[in-house]
Amino acid sequence: MLLLSGPNLSGNEWKYVKDCLDSGWVSSVGSYVGAFEEAVAHQAGCRFGVATVSGTAALHLALLLAGVQRGDYVILPNITFVASANSMRYLGADPLLVDVDEKTWQMDLDLLEEYLAEACELRSAGLYHKADGRRISAVMPVHVLGQMGDMPRLCRLAEAYGLKVVEDATEAMGSFFAGRHSGSYGLMGCFSFNGNKIVTCGGGGVLVTDDEGLARRAKHLTTQAKADPQRYFHDEVGFNYRLVNVSAAIGLAQMEQLEGFVERKRQIATEYMKALEGVGDIGFQQVVEGSQPNWWLFTVATRRQEVLLSALRAVEIQARPLWVPMNRLPMYANSPYVQRNDRSAFVHARCLSLPCSTDLSASDLLRVVEVIRKAY
Ligand SMILES: Cc1ncc(COP(=O)(O)O)c(C=O)c1O
Repeated sequence: MLLLSGPNLSGNEWKYVKDCLDSGWVSSVGSYVGAFEEAVAHQAGCRFGVATVSGTAALHLALLLAGVQRGDYVILPNITFVASANSMRYLGADPLLVDVDEKTWQMDLDLLEEYLAEACELRSAGLYHKADGRRISAVMPVHVLGQMGDMPRLCRLAEAYGLKVVEDATEAMGSFFAGRHSGSYGLMGCFSFNGNKIVTCGGGGVLVTDDEGLARRAKHLTTQAKADPQRYFHDEVGFNYRLVNVSAAIGLAQMEQLEGFVERKRQIATEYMKALEGVGDIGFQQVVEGSQPNWWLFTVATRRQEVLLSALRAVEIQARPLWVPMNRLPMYANSPYVQRNDRSAFVHARCLSLPCSTDLSASDLLRVVEVIRKAY
C-alpha cells in the first residue's frame, strides 16, 4: 500500500534511541525531553515548550490553562479533526462551530467577525452568547493541513472581544504566516508528533508559549501536579501527560530534519499541482496571502471524490477524504453552528488527500497522477 503520509526515519533516530536504552533513561526524566522541548520552542519562536504524550493532551492542557470552564463555549472551525472539539468537552465546555471558507478550507473570518458583532455581547466579565447566555472564553484556530489563515486578523478580533487564543497547530510544524511560526500567535500553541505528521515521535505533542507562568504550570500538570517529589504531595488534580525520553529522542532527531522535510513536501505539492492542473475539475487548496505552509498533506478538491477514491484504492494507493465536519458528529450536532450556506459540507464532499510522504519517489507520484487521469 502506498501510504498517505508515512514517517521518514533517516536521521539520528536510531542513535538517540540507542542512547536512551544504553543509559537506561527511558522514562520522562531523561535529557532528550528537555532537548526536544527546546528544539520545538526554538523552531516556533517561543520562549517555552512543554512536551506531552499527544497533541490532544497539549490542547486539553492549553484550554485548561487558558481558563476555559464547564459550560463555556470555545470558537472552533467546523472542519477539523475531532480531537480539537474533544479537548473542549474534557473540560465540560462545548465548541461554537464556525463554517470554513470554501477556497482556503480555514475558518471563515468574515463570518466570525459578523457573528461576534451581532450574536455576542461583551460584558465586564467577558463575552457572552446572546441566545443562551453562555460565556465564550476562547477561540481555537486550526491550521488545516499545515496551511494558515490570517492570524493577525484573528488575533485582533480575539483581542477586541476578550477571547484567549489557543492555536491547534498540530499539523503546522514548519508553517509560517507573515514570517511568524504557527503556534506563536496565540497565548499557547499545540503541536502533534503523531506518526503521520511532518515530524513524529511515534506519538507526542508540545505546548508552546511565551508565558513562563503558564509553561511552569503546564509542566506541573503533566507530571501529576507533584509539589513535593519525595513525599508524594500533590497540590491539584494533575495528569500523566508527560512525554517519555524514548519518544522525545525520536522527536529530536526528526526536528533536526524539519527543514529538508518541508522542502520535500513543497516539491511534492508543486509537482502534483503541475501534473494535475486542468485535469477534470480538479482544484487545490488556496494559500492565504502571507501564509508559508509546510504542505503537510497534499489535498485536491473534486466533485468526483468517490470515483477517484475507489480508483486509487483498487491499486493499493491510500487516499482519504477530509474529516466529517464537527456539526455532523453525534457528540457535536447540538453545538451552535455559524454558517451561511454550509461550506463545510461542500468541502467535505470534495476534498481528497493524496500520498505525499517525504520519501515518496518520483515514479510513485507519477503513478498516482496516472490513476487520477485515467479515472477522469
Ligand atoms: C487538527 C488536529 N487536531 C488535533 C490532533 C491531535 O493530535 P494527536 O493525534 O497528537 O493527539 C490532530 C492530529 O492527530 C489534528 O490533525
